[in-house]
Parts: sequence; structure tokens; C-alpha cells
Amino acid sequence: MLGKEKIDYSTNSTLPTSRKLETGLPGKVILITGANTGIGAAIAKGCLDAGAKSVYSLDLKEPSGTNEFVTVQAEYPGQAFYLNGDVTKIETLQKAFATVLEKEETIDGVVANAGVTIRKGALEYTPEEWDFIINVNLKGVVNTCNVAVDTFLSLRKPGSIVVTASMVSHGTNKSAPSLPYQATKSAILGVVRGFAAEFGPQGIRINCVSPGYIQTALTTYHLTDDMWDYKLGIWGGLHRLGEPRELAGTYVYFLSDASSFTSGVDIKVHGATDAW
Ligand SMILES: NC(=O)c1ccc[n+]([C@@H]2O[C@H](COP(=O)([O-])OP(=O)(O)OC[C@H]3O[C@@H](n4cnc5c(N)ncnc54)[C@H](O)[C@@H]3O)[C@@H](O)[C@H]2O)c1
Repeated sequence: MLGKEKIDYSTNSTLPTSRKLETGLPGKVILITGANTGIGAAIAKGCLDAGAKSVYSLDLKEPSGTNEFVTVQAEYPGQAFYLNGDVTKIETLQKAFATVLEKEETIDGVVANAGVTIRKGALEYTPEEWDFIINVNLKGVVNTCNVAVDTFLSLRKPGSIVVTASMVSHGTNKSAPSLPYQATKSAILGVVRGFAAEFGPQGIRINCVSPGYIQTALTTYHLTDDMWDYKLGIWGGLHRLGEPRELAGTYVYFLSDASSFTSGVDIKVHGATDAW
């Protein structure tokens, strides 16, 4: 009868094998989409700081110049690698995952982080702009989760996926509106809950991080320092923009055994921006 099947929890259980609390990522292999810059690069560095064996940035172009992933590669020689891929094209994800498996024989964690935005009034978006944002932020996340789940199932081992949502998954950014961005970032909360429910019995965990205002190219270009000061003064909380590195701990937590019984949830890392 449906719901009465006996589940063998010993298969692919997320239960930690060690009885000692493990908050780091010793020996783990982590793939992060959009890790050449900003938040993704900070997650990559955080994973390596936490003992990961290697991290992979799946991104559109080879990192170069001011891309923060270049600095991560310099700090951790032989542990931070670039993979060419586009999250809107599932075959490029499949190829990139295969490359990692060939080299590492495993993948322990995947972060679906790549995202884009265009800011303007709701009625001003062209159909192409809607498609662009939906394709990267929603379908790109689903593609990444599909390939990650397939990979964990084929490896017959537990795995952890973390998705980058946003504080606009929970509210509205009135001063910098982007309706398609808000729509996609809200939708992925449902994607996370759906994957968590369906693949939990196979030992796959999936969770979300919702960053607030973080100092990256995506955020800072549209307001002056004075405007940020005014805005964050009204919105309360820690009264400053966050730095990408301040998010990394939450990703490491979700990727580590410390969160072995946590799946299908979202953590807002926004300096209490909603404390108005
Ligand atoms: N910066 C913020 O304040 C903030 C707040 C909330 C959520 N976020 C989210 O955090 C994530 C990272 O944003 P960021 O601020 O670091 O921006 P960013 O622009 O610095 O980084 C985004 C990265 O994604 C890559 N990318 C874009 N399209 C891609 C595609 N189709 N395939 C593969 N890679 C692609 C880019 O090349 C870039 O390296 C995004 O999902 C964004 O929505 C950012």
C-alpha cells in the first residue's frame, strides 16, 4: 500500500559514519556553478578552507583578470579547477560532471549558484529578457539539480546540493525591481522542496541559501554609497552590505555532515535586512 513500503534506511543514508561532529569538508569534491566571480568564488574558497579536496567552477568562460576564482586557484594550487559549461544547456553540465568523475571518481556536493538579473520596471521586459532570466535562474538550477541527482544515484552514495536563492525569494526589492528575477528566485524554493521530498530516501539532501545585499557586481552598480547608507538605515539589521565570504559558512554547513538531517530548507543570510 502506498506509504507503507518498508524503506531500507541503511542504503545511502545521510547519517554520518563518524560519531565525532564533522563541520568541515575533509576530502570532499565540490562542483559550483558560476564560481568564477562573486558569491560562487567565495563558496569555492570557503569549501577549500574547510578541507575540501578540490572544487570546480562550472562557468561560461575561463576565469581571468579580476575574476576572484583566479585568486582561489593561486591560494590553493592544484585544488581549484575550471570547467566550461552553460547551465541552460544540460549537455554541457553532463559533460562537465563526467570530466570531474573521470578525474576524481566521485562528487560529494554540488552548488547551483549561477544567476543573472536585469533591473527595470515590470512592464519593460521583452519576452527575450524574460526567457534569458528564466533559462538561467530557474531552468539552469533544475538542469544542475537533475544532473547532480543522476550523478549521486549512479554513484550509489549520498550527496548534498545547495541552491543560491535570494532575499527576494521571500520579499520584494522595491528600490531595484526585477520581476523575472523575483519570480525565478521564488520558484526555486519550490524546486528545492520537491527534489528534497523525492530523493531524500536515496540519501540526497538539497537546501537553499538566500543571500541579502552582498557586495558583488550584481548588486553594487546601481546605487551610490550614500544611497546604500540611507537604504540600509531604513532596513535596519547590521546596516551594511555583506561580503561574499560571509555566506560561505552556510554553504559549507549544508555540504557537510553537520547538516546530515537537514533537507528541503532555506537559510536567509541577510544581516537582518528585514528588521524594518
Ligand atoms: N550579489 C547579491 O547581492 C546577491 C543576492 C542574492 C542572491 N544572489 C545570487 O547569488 C548568485 C551569484 O551571484 P553574484 O552576486 O556572485 O553574481 P556574479 O555576476 O558575480 O556571478 C554570477 C556568475 O554566474 C556565471 N553565469 C552566468 N550565467 C551562467 C550560465 N548560463 N552558466 C554558467 N554560469 C553562468 C557568471 O559568469 C558569473 O561568474 C546568483 O544566483 C545571484 O542571483 C546574489
